[in-house]
Order: sequence, then structure tokens, then C-alpha cells
Amino acid sequence: MSGNSGRDTAPGLFLTLEGIDGAGKSSHLDALEALFRAQGRAVVRTREPGGTALAETLRGLVLEQSMDPLTESLLVFAARRDHIVQVIEPALLRGDVVLCDRFTDATFAYQGAGRGFDDGVLATLEQWVQAGRAGRPATVLLQPHITLWFDLAPAIAAQRLAGARVPDKFESQPVEFFSRVAQGYAARAAADAQRFVRIDASQARDQVWQQVETALVARGVLGGTPR
Ligand code: TMP
Repeated sequence: MSGNSGRDTAPGLFLTLEGIDGAGKSSHLDALEALFRAQGRAVVRTREPGGTALAETLRGLVLEQSMDPLTESLLVFAARRDHIVQVIEPALLRGDVVLCDRFTDATFAYQGAGRGFDDGVLATLEQWVQAGRAGRPATVLLQPHITLWFDLAPAIAAQRLAGARVPDKFESQPVEFFSRVAQGYAARAAADAQRFVRIDASQARDQVWQQVETALVARGVLGGTPR
């Protein structure tokens, strides 16, 4: 579970986008950024793995080289640590909106469910990397306030991806891999239903955006509310 029930003194909003490759999440980042800027909020738009020079270097290794799942998990959490310390935490402490394309849920979905790696080890790494950051007590994990989970059947996502670009290491995985990843996301969402918003990504793009906007209004993060 998220372990995010404790005091959270940073004034920023941490919003993440998740989903299997081809679910279409990244195509809504421009509109999301514009929406928050129109509310007068400062926005930091970033991604994982990545978001700092070091983390982008690690991203290249993770996406291009084959490696065992523990090595992969250590690299994505190393990238995450640098990203939190250098970018995410300072932004949240300033009161900015952090729009992050993927975060730790992706590790549980891809390395955990997809590659079959031990969730217990991932939870330990999550503790090491995310505990006590951004104004939280040492025992409380930094987690997104809201996670937009773009849920799409793996077979449809594969059709959307086909021919779209040269696939990286994960994008070239078979549909069975993405079925496991999708199950991993579903499990994370079920375990933290307050944080997750399920977006039906099978709909047309405009309707998907409508769902996003409606969810943010329902969560009270638009229209002048502080978070
Ligand atoms: P992107 O193409 O959406 O930017 O994501 C990069 C790829 O990295 C995507 O296939 C998912 C994968 N990934 C992991 O395997 N573990 C992680 O922790 C993260 C953040 C991404």
C-alpha cells in the first residue's frame, strides 16, 4: 500500500500518468499543463525513468540494454531517487504542480507483474527511495496525490503502437507481457483506490480528455482549490 496516510506539509500537487505502452497517456500532457497554467499554477512537467541528467542517462540504459529484473529495478529506483531529490521534492515544496509521466506504479507493473520480479523487494526499494521526502515524516512515503491510470486492453494498445515508432525494449514485448503489466496496474489501483483514477482509454481522444477533466474537478484540484 502507499503508506501515504501521514502528514503532508508540502503545498504542491503531485499528479502522475500511468498505463501500458500505447494507452495514449502522454498525448494529454500538453492539455493538462495548459489547464493548470490557466489556473495560475506553476507546472513542472517531467517523466520517469528520467527528469534529471543522471536519470535520463539511466533511462537510456534501462530502455536499450537487456538486464536481469533486479538490475533493472535498481536502475529505475536510482533514477527515481535523483529525480525526487533534484526535481520533484523542490517543486512540491515550492507549491508547484508536478505532472509526471509514470512513477513507482510503473515499476510494480513492469518489473513486478510484467517481469515477475519480487514485489517485496520493490516495496523495500520504494521505502528507501520515497520515505521522508517533501516535508513528510521519516516513515511516510512520497506518493502521487492523484494517479490517472489510462486503462486499455493490451491487444488494442498493441495495434495503436504498431508502426507508430521504432519500439524500445518494453514496447517490443509480446501482448502477454502487457497483459501482466495491465494486471499489475489493476492490482495497484485496487490497493490504493483513493489515489487512482481509472480512465477508460478505449474511447476517442476527446472523450478520454473529458474523463480526465471531470476527474480533476471531482478531486477538487481545479477551480482555485489549494491542492
Ligand atoms: P514511456 O515510454 O511511457 O516514457 O516509458 C518508458 C518505458 O519504461 C515504458 O515501457 C515503461 C518502462 N518503465 C519501467 O519498466 N519501469 C519503471 O519504473 C518506469 C518508470 C518505466
